[in-house]
Amino acid sequence: MIPSYPALRMRRTRSSSWSRAMHRETTLLPSDLIWPLFVTDGNEVEQPIESLPGVSRWSVDRIVERAREAASLGIPCLALFPNTQGDKRSDDGAEAHNPDNLMCRAIRAIKDACGEDIGVLTDVALDPYTSHGQDGLIDDRGYVVNDATVEALVAQALNQAAAGADVIAPSDMMDGRIGAIRTALEAEGHVNIQIMSYAAKYASAFYGPFRDAVGSGGLLKGDKKSYQMDPANAEEALREVALDLAEGADSVMVKPGLAYLDIVYRVKQRFEVPVFAYQVSGEYALIEFGAKAGVGDRDALMMEKLLAFKRAGCSGVLSYHAADAARLLNG
Ligand code: PBG
Repeated sequence: MIPSYPALRMRRTRSSSWSRAMHRETTLLPSDLIWPLFVTDGNEVEQPIESLPGVSRWSVDRIVERAREAASLGIPCLALFPNTQGDKRSDDGAEAHNPDNLMCRAIRAIKDACGEDIGVLTDVALDPYTSHGQDGLIDDRGYVVNDATVEALVAQALNQAAAGADVIAPSDMMDGRIGAIRTALEAEGHVNIQIMSYAAKYASAFYGPFRDAVGSGGLLKGDKKSYQMDPANAEEALREVALDLAEGADSVMVKPGLAYLDIVYRVKQRFEVPVFAYQVSGEYALIEFGAKAGVGDRDALMMEKLLAFKRAGCSGVLSYHAADAARLLNG
């Protein structure tokens, strides 16, 4: 006999705020957030980035203030990206190996000021330093060559490590770079420097504002499809993750974020390792511009999306919203 009332009233546990709190399966905390920051030359400089409303490039002194702010908000880690001056960009991206480059100066200043209060994650890839905007070294056809690039990336990673980086995050998608970087770090005695590999990084249309921010967008000839992944592929992402873990990655990243939560979920289910996602510049900009155009409440849109990363299985999210979200979470 069919009862005259629903066998189970799913709405019962939703009927009051205390009960919703009690049944909530996923939480977002400031410690789930990694804050990407752009560094530029000069002193007391803040340069707003038009295609990333609310995000600026900061000079090293100002980045230190941001680091202190982040630590006080409970954000555990920053991700740094340099806007290298045009005259320091070259075909081979040699500025990446300069121990006094913008990145190294920013790492040292943050570590001097904040010590263990905050982690510094550094991006390994040549695009902020190359005159052609590709992540690696190119041959005369413009093809990014793998093994020579890996050598350059190893030197770049060691340079960042010497400056005090806590987490090395290769975003270049060359084959074999995680193993090569791990071996080099061990050889130099950097046994506790982590590697967070951008293991499944897709050739995405969502990176546009980032390329404006680091100044590589206008320079880029062609695309990055010969090394970044095809957005159609998921099994291939699992192979990439398996390789990077075998080569010594401590954690893996999926990038972009929201359109690739199925990848996050599958990686988490399969490998049971720390998985991070990068909510990239284009995703961030869509929320900001969308809210301005009346799509919805900006803070609500922001928090719902960040929570989705946690629900999918992320240990944390790299997001330009990190500081604002942490402020909201801290009440
Ligand atoms: C490049 C790099 C990119 C991003 C992080 N590292 C762009 C690219 O691959 O062209 C994108 C981040 C973002 O869009 O926020 N090594």
